[in-house]
Amino acid sequence: MKILGIETSCDETAASVVENGTKVLSNVIASSVDMHAQTGGVVPEVAAREHIRQISPVVDKALSDAKLNWSDIDAIAVTHAPGLIASLLVGVNTAQTLAYIHKIPLIPIHHVAGHIYANFLERQISNFKFPILILTISGGHNELVLMKGHHDFEVIGETLDDAAGEAFDKIARLLGLGFPGGPIISERAEDGDPIAFDFPRPMLDKDNKYNFSFSGLKSAVKREVDKISENKPTEGGIHESRLRDGVINDISASFQSAVIDVLADKLVMAADEFKVKSVHLAGGVSANQLLRKTVRERLSDNVQLFWPEKMVYCTDNAAMIASAAYFLPKKKINEKSVEVSSQLPL
Ligand code: KG4
Ligand code: ZN
Repeated sequence: MKILGIETSCDETAASVVENGTKVLSNVIASSVDMHAQTGGVVPEVAAREHIRQISPVVDKALSDAKLNWSDIDAIAVTHAPGLIASLLVGVNTAQTLAYIHKIPLIPIHHVAGHIYANFLERQISNFKFPILILTISGGHNELVLMKGHHDFEVIGETLDDAAGEAFDKIARLLGLGFPGGPIISERAEDGDPIAFDFPRPMLDKDNKYNFSFSGLKSAVKREVDKISENKPTEGGIHESRLRDGVINDISASFQSAVIDVLADKLVMAADEFKVKSVHLAGGVSANQLLRKTVRERLSDNVQLFWPEKMVYCTDNAAMIASAAYFLPKKKINEKSVEVSSQLPL
């Protein structure tokens, strides 16, 4: 079965054809991230306009890269929530129209379910044993999910404020390092000292043991930056070039280490409590090499650990949406409900 996936929930216009949920026949991504880099974050109107410009060529390329015609496509899967409303609308309207024209089913998919299925791409999934514990960490999401079967999710923890990726983006902005922050901070951290600054590791009380909160950490970094800045911050709190490179590297390393400690400790604690044999990392922050290494070191040896097979499957893509659709049980497909929503629980 060949499913065409479409993903437009944030700043990536993506289309992909996936066979039987795992075999990626094409994976096309047009990103407007360079435009948002100039403003230090995603501007929803700019993202939506770019989706409108890109969506048709991206879908055409997904088909031609896969060397397929419309008659070969069995269904269209599209992200309908959560995300930026205008951006989601472009993908959903396109998918609805194409499904109608080509008389094929339309399958609405939750974006975070998509990230979870990114780990099924190009994998021998007979190796996977439910329940799987998944840490979904991206710019907009930060959840601990217990997956008991296909599309059978229990969210056991979530962020009370910022998501991990969002925290990376905000600290990068504070340091004047550009957008998106995760890759830049982790690169700067390589030349920094992770114990130069003793930033807090917010583990929260026992009622919140699997929830996350990064706003206190963000404030602690800001206080430190204000203290050591040679001048007062510019409007918007940006300290650009006022901190020495070495200090920026040390702050990056110390901040990254605090975030990873919290993510890894909570993940390992939950893996023990729920006695899972498989742990997956998913979403943009799962690209982080130190996080992967730290989780592997702290998890017991008899627990399998997976992160997406390729870097492009960590961040937003449409292959993960097509995969999620393939594994969605028929009784859960609701073609009538393709309404877009900025916030929808998993
Ligand atoms: O999954 P994604 O593409 O989009 C959302 O669904 O939000 O994730 C993007 C996020 C950004 O916040 C970015 O800073 C973060 O993933 N990210 C990283 C790394 N690469 C991307 N964070 C930490 N380390 C990285 N290497
Ligand atoms: Zn995402």
